[in-house]
Amino acid sequence: MTAQATRAVREEVIGPDFFDDPHKYYRRWRKHGPVLRVLRPNGLPHWLIIGYDEARAALADPRMRKDVTELYETLRRVAPDGKGGGASEDLSSHMLNADPPEHTRLRKLVTREFTGRRVAALRPRIEEITRNLLDEMEGKDEVDLIEGLAAPLPVMVICELLGVPFEDRDDFQKWSKILLDADPNVDTVAVSQKMTDFLADLLEAKRANPGEDLLSSLVANGDGSDELSTKELVAMAYLLLVAGHETALHLIGNGIYLMLRDREAFQALRAHPDRIPAATEEVLRRFGPVGWATMRFTSEEATFGGVRIPAGQLVAISLDAANHDPAVTPEAPRLHQVDETPKHLAFGHGIHFCLGAPLGRLEANVAFTQLLERFGDLRLADPDFFPEWRLGFMRGFTSLPARLT
Ligand code: HEM
Repeated sequence: MTAQATRAVREEVIGPDFFDDPHKYYRRWRKHGPVLRVLRPNGLPHWLIIGYDEARAALADPRMRKDVTELYETLRRVAPDGKGGGASEDLSSHMLNADPPEHTRLRKLVTREFTGRRVAALRPRIEEITRNLLDEMEGKDEVDLIEGLAAPLPVMVICELLGVPFEDRDDFQKWSKILLDADPNVDTVAVSQKMTDFLADLLEAKRANPGEDLLSSLVANGDGSDELSTKELVAMAYLLLVAGHETALHLIGNGIYLMLRDREAFQALRAHPDRIPAATEEVLRRFGPVGWATMRFTSEEATFGGVRIPAGQLVAISLDAANHDPAVTPEAPRLHQVDETPKHLAFGHGIHFCLGAPLGRLEANVAFTQLLERFGDLRLADPDFFPEWRLGFMRGFTSLPARLT
């Protein structure tokens, strides 16, 4: 937050082609300052923060609230005719849409499951799953690296951790994609209900017959300190299941794509796998899976980058734009030449900083290391391949065809 003189507010319209290349827009807007007002193609007007310092400050500012009931009220007030899409309010009542003390209470219940130490213990299993997936590819000329690796790896891991049957993946992956993409032309009410019923039934089954997994432990009130209501349990399961695979899927897919676009980097990382974790951080900065942070609203007036945002306003923070702020990263390093951990906000910042960051990083590092080691001749199937972007909240590809030989 800066206390400079207040700037004039710039208003921009987001065109239907925004997601094809958001940086084209960001570069233009940046000339006029780090904070602006935008009108989305679905008719929703809101503020947008695109500067790195301003985004970081806003993410940690207690006046930027997330409480789900007030957020949905603000959405209805700001765009009464706007079609929102997205998950139902009940399904969205999880920690990512909560403020302290509610947020603190919910996050505390699962924090210990995602610490660096806990996650490091999962490494052998993540390596085994990855090996098995790569075994399936052996002998083929051409594969889709999203379908064959980037999608199944994080889903298998989060299913095992939570105790969600992997056989149900086709259903919950389809529903979570619809809910995250929040296309105003798709009936998300019915899909939210399907997801809610699926999770409620699963939690009920765990109550009757608990396993060794995280959801069973939450249902059984694991550490005896706090009990979650059924609605809270369903929302928690939804957040962990969706946040736990959609993001990591795109981190892996986006990283492989960047490596395949730079042959020298690919070979250098293959020869020096110890450089892969640093490369992963640059993938997160340059091409992180979350384009914008989830929506916030101002509980009182707040000034960022000299722009005064009144109380009761919707604010989006573009992590992707912040990560490309030339004031912070004037030049992108090549993936094999990352010497200093790049400054980025790809996992957010402040109290909502990604709970699964250690897990996401580990999955990506294992996937990149094994893929490069096993398939030294890996190439994009079509060198001119221009990926079909998945639009909306997530940034990534729906498929990534590659040749193994
Ligand atoms: C691998 C790439 C991942 C990326 C780039 C990513 C990104 C993010 C971001 C940006 C946020 C904050 C959003 C905001 O402030 O509006 C967040 C929150 C969260 N992430 Fe991740 N995530 C990843 C993986 C995971 C995984 C594997 C899990 C596992 C369950 C996970 C669980 C969560 C949870 C529970 C929150 C909410 C935390 C809170 O509200 O306190 N994420 N993530």
